[in-house]
Amino acid sequence: MNIILLGPPGAGKGTQARILVEERGMVQLSTGDMLRAAKTSGTEMGNKVAAVMEAGELVTDEIVIGLIEEHLATTKSEGGFIFDGFPRTLAQADALGELLARVNLKLDAVIEMRVEDDALVKRISGRYTCGNCGEGYHDDLKQPKAEGVCDVCGGTDMVRRADDNEDALKTRLMAYYRDTSPLIGYYYAKGDLEPINGLGEIDEVAQAIRAILD
Ligand code: AP5
Repeated sequence: MNIILLGPPGAGKGTQARILVEERGMVQLSTGDMLRAAKTSGTEMGNKVAAVMEAGELVTDEIVIGLIEEHLATTKSEGGFIFDGFPRTLAQADALGELLARVNLKLDAVIEMRVEDDALVKRISGRYTCGNCGEGYHDDLKQPKAEGVCDVCGGTDMVRRADDNEDALKTRLMAYYRDTSPLIGYYYAKGDLEPINGLGEIDEVAQAIRAILD
């Protein structure tokens, strides 16, 4: 199956994508992760997008569509793809439809994760991840079993994102409501939209997604 996880910053897209990768052998295509990797490795494109991302603005359609095109052309997935954080604009949604058709794939569902703004702010402000394997944690909501040690890989290099601050978060939320929320109507009209309550516990949200995919 090929699915989109659609939702505002902090809705839990990355958290649920990791569960789907583990349970179903799907491949996660996160444009946020791709852009952060480009930034860390200091590529020309990474340097170009760094300031835009840190401010919480959207990177240009051309750049992110190019990234997805490249990954779709070079990655095989028996279990299907999870598009996490892409598409984020109507132009990106149109481009994804064309790219999938070109490689003979179809979109099976767009899972809209609904979470209220107050909860998003709380989730984002306490978030950190393992710098080694990317597992996500939270100061209050999801702590590793041993403080500072990743449950998954044992890594101790925990990192916080540069755009997880109050000002950037406001901009990210604005960008979501302005540019991305129109995709809800776009996919509803195509009959692909599957809204779920993203406010429950991580396992409850995972169960709601399983129910759709099964
Ligand atoms: P991106 O990396 O995609 O960030 P985002 O959309 O802002 O989403 P997040 O990663 O912040 O949140 P999430 O929904 O994955 O939540 P998570 O699972 O971590 O994009 C970053 C930037 O890159 C953008 O601002 C833009 O500049 C650029 N960009 C990326 N894609 C682009 C595109 N297509 N076009 C243009 N620009 C693009 O969960 C958050 C926290 O909550 C965690 O601590 C987690 O443990 C906790 N949590 C998760 N679920 C639950 C739950 N059910 N209950 C309690 N806690 C939970």
